[in-house]
Amino acid sequence: MKGKKGFFIVTVICCLFCFACGKGKEESILVVGTNPEFVPFEYMEGEEIKGFDIDLMNQIGKKIGKKVEIKSMNFDGLLPALQSKKIDVVIAGMTATEERKKHVNFTKNYYISQQNIMVKENKEHNLEQLKGQKIGVVLGYTGDVFISSKNEYSVERFNSASAAILALQADKVSAVILDEEPAKQYVKQNSGLSTFAIYEGKEEYAIALHKDNISLLEEIDKALEDLKEDGSYDKLYQQYFTK
Ligand code: ARG
Repeated sequence: MKGKKGFFIVTVICCLFCFACGKGKEESILVVGTNPEFVPFEYMEGEEIKGFDIDLMNQIGKKIGKKVEIKSMNFDGLLPALQSKKIDVVIAGMTATEERKKHVNFTKNYYISQQNIMVKENKEHNLEQLKGQKIGVVLGYTGDVFISSKNEYSVERFNSASAAILALQADKVSAVILDEEPAKQYVKQNSGLSTFAIYEGKEEYAIALHKDNISLLEEIDKALEDLKEDGSYDKLYQQYFTK
């Protein structure tokens, strides 16, 4: 009797242990990749990654019962990491483009944006005026794809938006193309810069997932819908985008 009881207790402890450090844990953590160089969607504040996307992802995590773990990486490493299943999802102000859709799935969009041009204050006011000039872009961003598809500009690629801005300030490029919100933030933070929108198509930001992961995609879409319905999304939007 004593032996049986002991065996039972040991079995229970083993099960709990396996659950805690094995499968149970894997299922409850959502590994999220981002590139925190895109204010106000994701950026570093000291050692911490902050921003609209991060808050949104944490709220989604709560809705679907998963603990969100954020991993910082280069922007061009995000989709490869997703495809090799090193991360579960990508949230990075990422535009759901047709090209990217060939490789990964996207949730419904959570933000609509467009491309902007930044120039030194009161210089050019439209793309036309910049023909033949050097335009800075961030490697692999949709702004890069957009301007590279036109032949009238010479394109200079940088590894981050801040590197491109430095080049603009040093007159190494005539303009920088970047998504609207981050562009506005840079203009706010750096005197002597101005920005205008390029009215050539809207971009939809969405969360990317591996093509295999349909059930998680559905769960996240449902959570997004709930957050829009219960007012949480609006609250977050107000917090980051209306001043
Ligand atoms: N929306 C652009 C794109 O999808 C830029 C995104 C950059 N995001 C970032 N977290 N660095 O290409």
